[in-house]
Amino acid sequence: MKIGNLELAGRTVLAPLAGITNLPFRLLVKECGCALVCSEMVSAKGIVYNSEKTLTLLDSKATEKPLSVQIFGSCPDSMGEAASFIQEQGKADLIDINFGCSVKKVVKTGAGAALMKDFENARKVITAVRNAIRLPLTIKIRSGWDSSGCQAFRIAEMAQECGVDGIVLHPRTAGQGFKGKSDWSLIARLKEKISIPVIGNGDIQSAEQGLLMMEETGCDAVMVGRAALKNPFIFSQIEALLENRQCCKVSNDDVFGIMKRLVSYYSEYYDDQHASRMLRGRLAWFVKGLPGASGFRKQLSIINSCSEAIKLIQDFSASLAKQDYSALS
Ligand SMILES: Cc1cc2nc3c(=O)[nH]c(=O)nc-3n(C[C@H](O)[C@H](O)[C@H](O)COP(=O)(O)O)c2cc1C
Repeated sequence: MKIGNLELAGRTVLAPLAGITNLPFRLLVKECGCALVCSEMVSAKGIVYNSEKTLTLLDSKATEKPLSVQIFGSCPDSMGEAASFIQEQGKADLIDINFGCSVKKVVKTGAGAALMKDFENARKVITAVRNAIRLPLTIKIRSGWDSSGCQAFRIAEMAQECGVDGIVLHPRTAGQGFKGKSDWSLIARLKEKISIPVIGNGDIQSAEQGLLMMEETGCDAVMVGRAALKNPFIFSQIEALLENRQCCKVSNDDVFGIMKRLVSYYSEYYDDQHASRMLRGRLAWFVKGLPGASGFRKQLSIINSCSEAIKLIQDFSASLAKQDYSALS
């Protein structure tokens, strides 16, 4: 699987998730077999204005490579300048432009999904970024702004003409947000219309569904977002199914191991208090459905240090092991 001149080792991609796909989470997902990880969306204006908070979003590490950095904005000049900065600083292996964010704050500036209803500015933004960088370039689009028509096809064809190397399609309209079901048939139709790689995205909840999306749509790779929060192993599981290997079951020990890894990555990149605050939410995802999860979550919500997080995980793991043992005896 190649996007421009970037060769990927597999066909799975982590979706950009604002506030979530930071460096620690990406490192974790990479270890779980993801072929291409993606940053949170980064404001082009923030980069151009040298905002410290924005620039920290560009922190990366060699072991997570290849890395796609997603930028958002509506001003062609700032988008080009930001993309060029990212390339010159060696921060990314691929740049992605956000055409999908439907959050009011973003859309009202003409960025994100609003670009889908402004064809001429969309072309200017893509052209500015394309002319600014040699790195492979993708755009991540929705099916359209609203259900009046499929802006996705027109935008994707234009993007291909402008030299974009791949299209990610999340087939919901901006108006839908995350409601309803993503319409995978649009991914199949897009695949027929363009020759550059198509990455399908939307509602993959299991490895089997990842495989199904590839089979049903013919897409070149699949992008997974929310399902990876509970099961980061989904990437290696999808890769296994694609190679006709058995999809490994995830044990409780695997889950607790990965939780501890996440704590260690957070403690490496953030100060203890900040890390533990963020981990209160992050660690809760992994235990969904396990017996005793609600008690664990309650205790998690008041941790103030990474060492408290590790102790909680160990205690929870031991209590489950005891239950397993009593079930056997
Ligand atoms: C919390 C959250 C944050 C998101 N942030 C971004 C973002 O920064 N950029 C983007 O293009 N899409 C973003 N998305 C959309 C996802 O990348 C993805 O398209 C969507 O969740 C559908 O995929 P999924 O069903 O696998 O989660 C976000 C979604 C969620 C739930």
